[in-house]
This record gives sequence, structure tokens and C-alpha cells, in this order.
Amino acid sequence: MKETLKMHIINGPNLNLLGIREKSIYGDISFKKYFIILSNRYPNIDLKYFQSNSEGEIINKIQEAGFSSDGIILNAAAYTHTSIAIADSIAAITTPVVEVHISNIAKRESYRHQSYIAPNCIGSIFGFGLDSYRLAIEAIIEQANLKVKS
Ligand code: DQA
Repeated sequence: MKETLKMHIINGPNLNLLGIREKSIYGDISFKKYFIILSNRYPNIDLKYFQSNSEGEIINKIQEAGFSSDGIILNAAAYTHTSIAIADSIAAITTPVVEVHISNIAKRESYRHQSYIAPNCIGSIFGFGLDSYRLAIEAIIEQANLKVKS
């Protein structure tokens, strides 16, 4: 395996309000706090975090990270269910993308059951609370290992 894997977490709209927003669904800690816990757990991974409420900024970040990062962990939040533009940006890059959601979108309103981005991601992880992000990191580590071996 490469010595330092580079990963990007990209969070979409309203995820800046984690810890405040609908706590019964999304929990009561902010992503900034969780990101510190996650970074401490993976000291050998170069982990970067970006959040935006704007579709264009999310696309810009996907394009920026998408040719040099070893993995993008993307929670596109509500754009998951609407954005062909974000789906296209994932198709355009070479970095593998893991779709993540905190809640189990399959158990929620029917409009959350469709993901425009899932077909362009290597896989999707949802329903494990914030731990979904850690599981995505593990998936990218495994993918990177497999790539080195093949
Ligand atoms: C979410 C699920 C989306 O349906 C919702 O719009 C969000 C958060 C999640 O992480 O569970 O904002 O992506």
C-alpha cells in the first residue's frame, strides 16, 4: 500500500448544521467535532474536509480533488436525489467516490430512495449514523490495497 493515502470528505447542503439539525435523525455532534475524532483514528491518512451548501462549489471540489485524491467520500445530502450535475462530475473524474449518508435513506420518504449519484460511485454506505464515514474510509483503504495487489 502507498504510504499516505489522500482522502477527501465532501459534505453537501445543511450538513454544516449537524448537531443542531433534526438530532433524532442526524445525531447530536457537529461534523467538525466528528472530523477531529476521525482524523485521530486515521493518523496515517491525509484526510481533508469540505462542506458547501452550493451545488456548484461541491462540483468544483469534486473536480479539484478528483484527479489526485485516493478516494472521495461524498455525502451530497439532498442533492443526491436531484443533481445530474454532481452525478456527471463523479463520472468525469478518476478518483473513486463512495456515496455516504448518515441516515438510512431506504427507510425514509420515497423521494430519498432515488440516488442520481449512486450509479457513478464505487459503492454506497448509509444508515450507520456518522460511522458511515468511517466505513467509507475502510472501503477506500481496501480498494487501494486491491489496486496495489492487482
Ligand atoms: C442525508 C440524507 C438526505 O436525504 C438528506 O437530504 C440529507 C442528509 C444523510 O446523510 O442521511 O441532508 O444525506
